[in-house]
Amino acid sequence: MNKEELVQALSPGADTAAFFALADETRKKYVGDGVHLRGLLEFSNHCRRNCRYCGIRAGNPKVRRYRLTTGEILDCARAAVALGYRTVVMQSGEDNHWGPKELVKIVDEVKKATGLAITLSVGEYTKEEYKDLRKAGADRFLLRFETSDRALFAALKPDSDYDRRFSCLAWLKEAGFQVGSGVMAGLPGQTLESLADDILLFKKMDLDMVGIGPFIANPDTPLAGSPGGTLDLALRMVALTRIVTRNAHIPATTAMGSIDPQGRQKALRCGANVLMPNISPVEHRVDYSLYPGKICVNDQPEQCAGCVDAMLRSLGRSRAGGFGHSLKKA
Ligand code: 5AD
Ligand code: FES
Repeated sequence: MNKEELVQALSPGADTAAFFALADETRKKYVGDGVHLRGLLEFSNHCRRNCRYCGIRAGNPKVRRYRLTTGEILDCARAAVALGYRTVVMQSGEDNHWGPKELVKIVDEVKKATGLAITLSVGEYTKEEYKDLRKAGADRFLLRFETSDRALFAALKPDSDYDRRFSCLAWLKEAGFQVGSGVMAGLPGQTLESLADDILLFKKMDLDMVGIGPFIANPDTPLAGSPGGTLDLALRMVALTRIVTRNAHIPATTAMGSIDPQGRQKALRCGANVLMPNISPVEHRVDYSLYPGKICVNDQPEQCAGCVDAMLRSLGRSRAGGFGHSLKKA
């Protein structure tokens, strides 16, 4: 699809039935019926940055900051193994405390103790640091570029640099990571043209994974009160991203489930093939509030596992086997 066709399909008036069906067929053909479960471990909510949309930004004094110990991280990773997950996604704010050296050590320990595929989602580091993390045993890395619109990026991420972010993504690829990126849909000032550009960029970058969620205004951020993105727009993005990228791994994201109780199910029916059940300790979940209304904040990891298995059954789908590595390299 070209940009014009993408913009047309993203427009609220355009009928979705036909292209959602095509996205579902494309998903079935290129990635199958299995759904990969990735255990999401939010291991620190400390962050040095001030992204205007994000609840754990440094400038939000209301956040009760926490940081798991290496022992706690290992316990959570072992619990993920017990729940049958094959991947742990270790996510945090851009926490100054974790010098790359400490992170390297933790990755090494988690890998040795569990053999899980390890995905990091910890923000911007240098080329050398990414290489070290890869060597320590991290397999994948998620770093959303958030929007391909340079001016919007600058307005929303005042202490980040657009070109540097894309350099990071290139370095990650060079270091041998399976690379995931993505965007929020419905950001204030975001146009359908720029969302179409986002999709074309996913394709051009040949991403292994693409995460898309609706923007949800957080009352404790400068974007308090902004209208959020709709599920409809986020689903259109997922479906078109499936059609265009064919075999990328695409999650039905927590943000989609948070704005609509059927959000993740709907995403799984129009292109998504991954779920990321939360495995963070329950006592810290509410403190990892990037946006309000986040689902699962009172659930134990076992409850989230039961919930996603029931969701898959209701959709006639099942857990995919294996580690769920990228299909790009195969
Ligand atoms: N609404 C929706 N998604 C958000 N994220 C951060 N803040 C918000 C928000 N207010 C997303 C960003 C980030 C990911 C971890 O969470 O895209 O990359
Ligand atoms: Fe933490 Fe944006 S507020 S990286």
